[in-house]
Formats: sequence, C-alpha cells, structure tokens
Amino acid sequence: MLILGIESSCDETGVALVDASGSATPRLLGHALHSQIEMHQAYGGVVPELASRDHIRRVLPLTDAVLAQAGLPLSALSALAYTRGPGLAGALLVGAGLACALAYARGLPVLGVHHLEGHLLSPFLSADPPEFPFVALLVSGGHTQLMRVDGVGRYALLGETIDDAAGEAFDKSAKLLGLDYPGGPALARLAQQGHASVFRFPRPLLHSGNLDFSFAGLKTAVLTQVKRLAHARLDGPARSGLADPLSLQQKADVAAGVQAAIVDVLVSKSLAALSATGLRRLVVAGGVGANACLREQLNTACAQAGVRVHYPELHLCTDNGAMIALAAGLRAQAGLAFVDAPAASDYCFDVRPRWPLAELGSQETPGST
Ligand code: KG4
Ligand code: ZN
Repeated sequence: MLILGIESSCDETGVALVDASGSATPRLLGHALHSQIEMHQAYGGVVPELASRDHIRRVLPLTDAVLAQAGLPLSALSALAYTRGPGLAGALLVGAGLACALAYARGLPVLGVHHLEGHLLSPFLSADPPEFPFVALLVSGGHTQLMRVDGVGRYALLGETIDDAAGEAFDKSAKLLGLDYPGGPALARLAQQGHASVFRFPRPLLHSGNLDFSFAGLKTAVLTQVKRLAHARLDGPARSGLADPLSLQQKADVAAGVQAAIVDVLVSKSLAALSATGLRRLVVAGGVGANACLREQLNTACAQAGVRVHYPELHLCTDNGAMIALAAGLRAQAGLAFVDAPAASDYCFDVRPRWPLAELGSQETPGST
C-alpha cells in the first residue's frame, strides 16, 4: 500500500510517500519539503495569506520530486493523505484540495490526518521506534500537551497549556530579544553563549500538582528583565521592549535563563506524567523537541528514572509530509476508519483549523471505512 501524504498546515509545504504494506512499520520511500521561513522573516511571523499562496506554488513540484525520488509513477499510489487540521484554514485547503483532487482523478481513498497525530507518531520513522503504550510530550508552536498513548488512535489528554504553548514562549521571548523569526532555534543558538544562572525566570505551575502548563507569564518576566537591563545601560528610561542597548552577553544570559525555565517545566511535568501513569516510555514530538537543551535534560532525567525516551529524527521534528503519510499508513494498518469518511466516499473535503486531538479516539470504530 503506497500512501502519498501532504502537509500544508502552516509555513512548511511537505510531501512524502510511504509504503505501508503488511504489518511492518511504514517505510519512507521519498520526502520533500519547502520551508517558507525566509518569506515570512520580513514580517516577523507567519502571514496566512502569503502562506496559502506559497503552498499553491510549491505543492505540485514537491509531489513530482517525491515520486521521482521513489522512482514511481502517480498510478502506483494506493491512497492519499493530507493534514486536515489544526492549522491555518487557507493553508490547510491547499493540501486538502490536491489530495482530494488526485484521489478523485485516480479513484483512490483519501484520509484527513490530524497534524498532532502526525507529530505524535513521527518517532516511528526513527532508527529507535517506540512501543505502545507511552507518554507523549507534544511541544509545538501552537500546542503543549501531555498525552497517554495506548495505540494508534488511542490518545488520552493528561494535561496541556492553559495559555501560551512552549514554542510560543520561545518565539515571543526571542522577539523581545530582537531575534529573527522563527525565534525558537535562534534563541537556543544564542543561549549556548549564555549562563542560565545569571537571570532566574519563573517556572509557572511547576508545583501545581497537576499536568497543566502556563507560559504566558514568562514573556512578561522577560520583558521586565530586558527593560531593566536596557534602562541601566542607557542610564535613563528604556524604550519599551527594545533589547538593542543590551550587550550580546546579556542577551545570551537572558536567552539561557528563558530556555532553562521552559525546559525545567517540560522535564518536570513529563516525569510527573510518567509517574502518574506508571508508564516507562516517553515520546517527545513537535518543533520544540528539536531543542538540544531539552533533549539533554530529558535524557539525563529519564535515565535516572529508568525511562526510555524516543524522539523523531531531528529533521522530522518540525512540520513535514513524512509524519502525515506515516500516520495515514499506521491508521490503515490498524484498520481505523479514515477520519473524514465523507471525503473517502464522495471526495468532498473539509478542513478543521481547530481540532482537539482527544476527539480522534471518540470518533471512530476500528475496522469501519
Ligand atoms: O511543530 P512545529 O514545526 O510547528 C507547529 O506545529 O507549531 O513547531 C514550531 C515551533 C516554533 O515555535 C519554533 O520556534 C519551535 O517549534 N522550535 C524550537 C526549536 N526548533 C523549533 N524551539 C526551541 N528550540 C529549537 N531548537
Ligand atoms: Zn507542527
């Protein structure tokens, strides 16, 4: 079974092909990605209309490239998959439109995949795939969640952020430090030259006794610190939010302090989730999962607690088509209904810009199509 997957939920166009024949973990046959980072950089963040238009420009050439990589014609495909949500409505429609058009033209089934399910299952493409059940820490630009995962499509929410996501906390702090979009990787790079102990930032909800997160207060603490430092250097009132007067070392120390605060909370809550569920396996997925400091501290903490920790390949941490094709393949192998059954039968399609992952488990029955 050959499945072509298309991701277009935000600022990356990704296309990939997996072979999901038999019961072995689906194998990646080809994968191509175009990141819009450069295009959005001038605006300091994603401009949804520009994102949609760029997806339109990229998605067909990327599809051709993936088929060429795999040495297969379009007629070899057995099914199509696309990111149905959550994400930007206009951007999602591009992937949905192409997947459903191809499915209609070739008379094939089509599957609308949940973006976070793609992230969640992406470590199955790594050299060290996990086994069910496990606790998943999903840390992306829009989501921070701890889930209990008992199998494909069997997800229970343990805790989530009550305001900003961890990626958002990285991005907003980076902006306050005058770093380019996307702020997360830039802040992580700057933090390497800093000392986390110079400025201590709050660890919100660290001892809340539940598995929820809150990161909104962190950006206020960073803003206050940046203003204070700027004020001291200028010896007068600082202009709001401007980090320009700060020395590179001060910026690096702030970056290291912010990163330490976010990582501390993520590590501590992940361990609490493992102990609450009694599970001995942790999967980390989503863009923030690429953060080296997070990986290092999770590895140490999990080794001490006797927990195995699994990550996606580094290049599959952020958005990509491979995780969408993979999730579709794993669903097909598990005998799960295609999520958007109407599209499978009459090729109408819709997207879900807001779509709680927990809805997946309650929507379908194994074996139905
Ligand atoms: O999963 P993803 O690619 O897109 C969403 O579904 O949101 O995650 C993007 C987020 C952004 O907030 C980005 O700044 C963050 O992941 N990110 C990082 C790193 N790489 C990406 N944050 C911290 N350190 C990194 N190395
Ligand atoms: Zn994502």
